[in-house]
Amino acid sequence: MFGARLSQVLSLGLVAPAVALSDAQRCAALAKTTIKNVHSLDTVYLRANESYRVPASCGMGLGDDLLAQTSVNVCVVNAVYNTSRTSATRIEVWLPDQDAWYGRIMGTGTGGLGGCVDYDDLKWGPALHFATFGHDSGHDGMSGAAFARSDEVVVDYATRSLHVAAQTSKLLVRKYYGRQQDKSYYVSCSNGGRQGMRNAQDYPHDFDGILAGSPAFNFINVAAMGGIANLAAAKLSDDDWTLVRKEVLRQCDGLDGLHDEIISDPDACQFLPEVLLCTGAKRADCLSVEQVEAVRTIHSPLYGAHGELLAARIDPGAESSTSFWPIVFGPSFYAFAQQWWQYVVYNDTTWQPTPHFGLKEIADANKREKQVPVNSFDPDLSAFRKRGGKLLTYHGRRDIVIPSGGSLMYYERVQHALSLPQSAMDDFYRLFLIPGMDHCYLGPGAWQFGQIGFGAWSNASDSNALLALVDWVEKGTGPETLRGSADGTAQSSRLHCKYPARSVWKADVQDWTCVEFP
Ligand SMILES: *[C@@H]1O[C@H](CO)[C@@H](O)[C@H](O)[C@H]1NC(C)=O
Ligand SMILES: *[C@@H]1O[C@H](CO)[C@@H](O)[C@H](O)[C@H]1NC(C)=O
Ligand SMILES: *[C@@H]1O[C@H](CO)[C@@H](O)[C@H](O)[C@H]1NC(C)=O
Ligand SMILES: *[C@@H]1O[C@H](CO)[C@@H](O)[C@H](O)[C@H]1NC(C)=O
Repeated sequence: MFGARLSQVLSLGLVAPAVALSDAQRCAALAKTTIKNVHSLDTVYLRANESYRVPASCGMGLGDDLLAQTSVNVCVVNAVYNTSRTSATRIEVWLPDQDAWYGRIMGTGTGGLGGCVDYDDLKWGPALHFATFGHDSGHDGMSGAAFARSDEVVVDYATRSLHVAAQTSKLLVRKYYGRQQDKSYYVSCSNGGRQGMRNAQDYPHDFDGILAGSPAFNFINVAAMGGIANLAAAKLSDDDWTLVRKEVLRQCDGLDGLHDEIISDPDACQFLPEVLLCTGAKRADCLSVEQVEAVRTIHSPLYGAHGELLAARIDPGAESSTSFWPIVFGPSFYAFAQQWWQYVVYNDTTWQPTPHFGLKEIADANKREKQVPVNSFDPDLSAFRKRGGKLLTYHGRRDIVIPSGGSLMYYERVQHALSLPQSAMDDFYRLFLIPGMDHCYLGPGAWQFGQIGFGAWSNASDSNALLALVDWVEKGTGPETLRGSADGTAQSSRLHCKYPARSVWKADVQDWTCVEFP
């Protein structure tokens, strides 16, 4: 005891500089850091609300002007890390001032097939006192064309880029603040959600807490399902789809106890498209046999040649997700699938899907998967669980881009693979299914619950997923419910439930409650 105190005093005495450097001076000095495999490391001290032009062709949340800013002072570090002889990843770290840092790191991910640092999340962290980092997943720009250059670029995208970004950021944090972080967190959605799940599988020691939304895992089957749905959807006109949307709501909306255009639990709905079948020739108010078949394909799970479940269905109700509709059901083939098969599976820039795109292409992709594994669906989370990691996940039940059933599939596979009772799952892995939320955000549901910077309507940890995760990691109490808001007000708020509980409307109290069905 005495010895420890003495050495603390001594070391304080030794390191105390004659004149304390300002944050801006320490930021400039940080540029001289040498880190193995890192080159072109530079820094800029950015005052609150000042902007700087980012050194890349794209940035999520920046628009075309590429000017980034945040509401507090930060030391911005840009570094390029050589991940192999033929690949590199750009890492960007935003370090709040010394007296504004609470000892936490927050990592962020990338969306789509990109390539673009997520500035929406990057500016969120420092305001909440996190040292925050982003990365470009190993290539610049939103296109997957870079994947054809080298398999190493795909490996970065799949898993390596986030890992080296986490390691590099931890080194920079230690250098800038003179001590290492207390806890590290990761926050992202969609492909960034997949990167978070994959990180828990591959590098369980990178993060103490992971908030991963709407993950694009089970990557190949889900991308194929999007492609198959895209081809089927083209068999219906816009007016036909209006008909289907109405019929889905008629059959499914009231099952949760309230007619509000939100299907809280699509699993409870056996949608029957044949109700719309024309008795004679095709008319405006009904569908042809071929069209009914197309709708059924979209709302059915994808099975393999031996009857094995490959991917979850697109939830009934998701066709009402107008903001994300064009990504999957638009006139061009689902871009995820187009680019993956074009650049990675076949490396043929002229590749186009046939009308029978499906199991054959999945088999071809699975062959490439052996060289460049991207699926990220390994249910063995035992190492992450053992080191005390906490995994908080969510998925919108109106997600047309990545169907929410995939998150259920994975949850159940982990539970099965690790043979854990519910209470043990609750100790490290919690899933929230968000009624009426589209892909990662938007929709008629209470989609703002602190899962992303622009969806943080409250800083209370019962209404903010990031801060709930911090409480879980640091105080041991995980969230049972999360209160989301549809428009940022308490009036439009409703409770979201931890799986396996589902939300049910209680007419007597005029509110939602979480109910576990036996
Ligand atoms: C990283 O790769 C670039 C381009 O190939 C090269 O110029 C640079 O010297 C490499 N730096 C390190 C630290 O490996
Ligand atoms: C930054 O901008 C916000 C919003 O305009 C303002 O409230 C805040 O005071 C500004 N901060 C500084 C340090 O200028
Ligand atoms: C893809 O094809 C191009 C052009 O033929 C070639 O240069 C490249 O090495 C190939 N990529 C891979 C990953 O094999
Ligand atoms: C949450 O805290 C941050 C940092 O203090 C602040 O900028 C933000 O406005 C707060 N959000 C709400 C909804 O109070």
